[in-house]
Amino acid sequence: MRMRRTRGNALIRQMIAETSLQISDFIYPLFIVEGSQIKREIPSLPDVYHFSVDRLEEEIRELVALGIKAVLLFGVPNEEDKDEKGTAAYDEQGVVQRATRKIREITDDILVITDVCMCEYTSHGHCGLLDKDGVVQNDPTTKELAKIALSHARAGAHIVAPSDMMDFRVAEIRRALDQNGYQDIPIMAYSAKYASNYYGPFREAAGSAPSFGDRKSYQMDYHNSDEALMEIALDMEEEADFVIVKPALAYLDIIRRVKDNCNTRIVAYNVSGEYAMLKNAVKNGMVDEAVIYETLIAIKRAGAKNIITYHAKDIAKQCKEGSFELN
Ligand code: PBG
Ligand code: ZN
Repeated sequence: MRMRRTRGNALIRQMIAETSLQISDFIYPLFIVEGSQIKREIPSLPDVYHFSVDRLEEEIRELVALGIKAVLLFGVPNEEDKDEKGTAAYDEQGVVQRATRKIREITDDILVITDVCMCEYTSHGHCGLLDKDGVVQNDPTTKELAKIALSHARAGAHIVAPSDMMDFRVAEIRRALDQNGYQDIPIMAYSAKYASNYYGPFREAAGSAPSFGDRKSYQMDYHNSDEALMEIALDMEEEADFVIVKPALAYLDIIRRVKDNCNTRIVAYNVSGEYAMLKNAVKNGMVDEAVIYETLIAIKRAGAKNIITYHAKDIAKQCKEGSFELN
């Protein structure tokens, strides 16, 4: 057998390619800030911007023109609007709620997915309610998350995405949505979310770093892999419509295990630290920009159908310029 027979030209290589990217695979994160007339590059995330709601339209139109079909919204409230309980997260006039309504007004060509968590809204930066010892309280937190998810659904979110890692939050959110007439709003759960050092640039962008301690009592320990299957099985029982594995690149083994063991929709989150490393290497001319395509292919080859990535615009542009085939 001569393996080189099917490598001789581009057409035959394309014909036998086992993996491909579609533009509809991608979900592009957007950071929404308070204020007006703001479009400001995020220092920790080159080529990614903070937008105020009134400047969203130009970005949304650009995404639509590039063929991008889904965004994931993160709210960045003002410091003075944060409190112990993160109440701004379910304010009808909150940044995510206003941004959601705005995007729904602008176009029907983009799915609005909203991140459901408390860390951007709590004064202490943790993803839940604290007891007097500073420990995150699981069950009371799931009630708050359900309120947040419901307020996003009311604003017009197509999909809600809880990223907190509390136990039973998918069930609690599902119940709240169902009881209020939103039984058709899917939940994209961050199911296997690891306590990772790769979230640094995001925390800077979202102002959501914990003011004390870390997130290891709720996010997964990266020494573990069986546990990811347990987390995903539980979220599937609670009716998660999609499960997220996060981060993606140092966790390709997890994505593959989930693919082989769980019959569900797998989304990989190619996180901020992974983006920043690659993007800076490309910007510095250390590697060719084709590494972005190669890297996203690797995530798909591992078994993810969808990819949440800050590279979504990069790859769509490269494809428009004719570097790659994307459907
Ligand atoms: C907050 C949240 C984080 C990310 C998404 N939602 C950070 C964290 O858990 O501290 C990370 C995303 C990224 O790094 O791109 N719950
Ligand atoms: Zn959080």
